[in-house]
Amino acid sequence: MAHRWTNTLSAADVTPKQAYLNRRQIMAGLGGMAGLAGLGALPGAAQAETLEPNSWEDVTTYCNYYEFGTGKGDPAKNAGQLTTTPWSVKIDGLVDRPGDYDFQKILGEMTLEERIYRFRCVEAWSMVVPWMGFELADLLALAGVQEGAKYVSFETLYRPSEMPGTAYPVLDWPYREGLRLDEALHPLTLMATGIFGKDLPNQNGAPLRLVVPWKYGFKSIKSIVRISLTDTQPQTSWNMANAREYGFYSNVNPKVSHPRWSQATERRLGGGLFAGRDDTLMFNGYEEEVASLYDGMDLTKHF
Ligand code: MTE
Repeated sequence: MAHRWTNTLSAADVTPKQAYLNRRQIMAGLGGMAGLAGLGALPGAAQAETLEPNSWEDVTTYCNYYEFGTGKGDPAKNAGQLTTTPWSVKIDGLVDRPGDYDFQKILGEMTLEERIYRFRCVEAWSMVVPWMGFELADLLALAGVQEGAKYVSFETLYRPSEMPGTAYPVLDWPYREGLRLDEALHPLTLMATGIFGKDLPNQNGAPLRLVVPWKYGFKSIKSIVRISLTDTQPQTSWNMANAREYGFYSNVNPKVSHPRWSQATERRLGGGLFAGRDDTLMFNGYEEEVASLYDGMDLTKHF
């Protein structure tokens, strides 16, 4: 099956001075050196479909971040005023070490190699973004997930003085999202801290946001200030706004239509006005990696 992410990162994906670690090599435990040398081919790599990333321009000027306005161009215009240092993330609920975690300190303790990934991310449009970040599982391990935890909920900063969009009740602020614990611990679930080898621009969710590559874009909550481990399914902003249209899972699934439109095809952003539509892949092309999380579940019911 064709994969939507590549196993061979090249220097062109990020900035020239940086070295790149191949994600598969990390997962295969081959460690730093092979990856730093940029040596690619592992079993399975031959099947990888290499997609060109979207441009910096596409990724940073066509955004969704309703705290800064509902227009695609609003976040780029308005998010500059957001203060992102210092930044701490409260981790609470069913954890051994609840508290306020200093984001700059967490990052300072990570090497660059630990922060380089590449994913494809999709919503109603699609984009290929060379993300940097670390696994959410690593962050949760710092806090120590307790036995009874079943879900993870996330909250975005709510700071009306710097977020003009929050003056409008388009959503019930703060923006909220959630994952089941096994989804949260999956190695593809990323806490993104940068794109193209640079720190995240504010409009893309600085200083840290979630990226769940097999789910629709709205699951990927930006500028996170709180993460709670719970034993009940958390509320999510889009589900609260319209439960009929937005379910808790929101897995990319060409077979389940949104009530108002089909989700069987997608148009890649940046492909130009006359770019055709591609068939959307189950779980956004990550079926092999994540389908087992949903064994036995009726995905038309749990959409
Ligand atoms: N997070 C917050 N806090 N507020 C938002 O409005 N929009 C979501 C998601 N995360 C959103 C958010 C939606 S609908 C999408 S498609 C992605 O962010 C867009 O991410 P991007 O602008 O970096 O492409």
